[in-house]
Amino acid sequence: MKATARAHTNIALIKYWGKRDESLILPTNSNLSVTLDGFSTETTVHFREGLKEDSFLLNEQKVEGAALGKIAVFLDKVRALYGKEIYAQVQSVNHVPTAAGLASSASGLAALAAASSKAIGLSLDNMELSRLARQGSGSASRSIYGGFVEWQMGEREDGLDSYAVQIADQSHWDIRIAAVVLSKTVKKVSSREGMRRTVETSPFYAGWLEQTAKDLQEIKQAIIAKDFEKMGSVAEANCLRMHATTLGANPPFTYWQDTTMRVMQTVQNLREQGIPAFFTIDAGPNVKVLYLPEDEAKVKNSLQAMEDVEDIIISKPGSGISYM
Ligand code: ADP
Ligand code: DP6
Ligand code: CO
Repeated sequence: MKATARAHTNIALIKYWGKRDESLILPTNSNLSVTLDGFSTETTVHFREGLKEDSFLLNEQKVEGAALGKIAVFLDKVRALYGKEIYAQVQSVNHVPTAAGLASSASGLAALAAASSKAIGLSLDNMELSRLARQGSGSASRSIYGGFVEWQMGEREDGLDSYAVQIADQSHWDIRIAAVVLSKTVKKVSSREGMRRTVETSPFYAGWLEQTAKDLQEIKQAIIAKDFEKMGSVAEANCLRMHATTLGANPPFTYWQDTTMRVMQTVQNLREQGIPAFFTIDAGPNVKVLYLPEDEAKVKNSLQAMEDVEDIIISKPGSGISYM
């Protein structure tokens, strides 16, 4: 009863930012991402008779307390599908900084969903796996698939119609995504807390929701048509609108640092020089820059010339879940 799975992170081009159901993790809007081949998680789950509780090793460190509690709550859902009380040893390695706004919860919970369901003997299809991963972290529902992926919000209260589907696979379009790492430290406001506070208190939230459904339709057309300018400009505007909602929350907050804004400026400067480059930012200070392969040298040079950039990690559209 042991299995190992790998999942890649993803970056949202149309953001998931708000839940209509906190315990099932059902979103307020459909959203879309591209899976990244440069960041991943590998997780092994071993269910064993005789264990009295779950245990969790992350990057070879024993995890206890609330973080272990989250794993146990997730494994309870897997146990419920299986119908038997049996505990597991979970070992995971993040090839991505944890909780820094680089989507470790997406690759982490997707890998956990895949490894745990396989280890316990369930053979879930991608739709079922996406629905399961969703209940660990919303963005993880998308990391089941490679390429360009839409999480369809669904309408049902039980969440059966809330799962991700692939819009185009990783071979559809050779674009590049540079993750400009400015900080690898754990963010002060988790994605979960940040979106909850925004939904509950930000008067800008309604405006965000109204526009995002239109953005989603536009970006899907742009992806199918491989219209890079269109895709990039919609993604960038959607990102800015999401981050604007946090400034209206009570208490207000932002995920940005001064360096975040300087990278945004660098990307705008590249565009002024005629290079189609666009940015997007998840819940953290780090910026992802979208560009085409032929512009790699120019984009990299501009980003590398900046002060306070810790690392630049370049991805192509990555693949979905795999088992080892
Ligand atoms: P991020 O931007 O990294 O996704 P979040 O605040 O959304 O940040 O989520 C971070 C949380 O995701 C961690 O505190 C932990 O609970 C969970 N997580 C991260 N990596 C893993 C992993 N490999 N296995 C299980 N859970 C993980
Ligand atoms: C800004 O999936 O990390 O990155 O569902 O509470 O675990 P939980 O949150 P999470 O939220 C991601 C928010 C985002 C946008 C996105 O990835 O779509
Ligand atoms: Co996350």
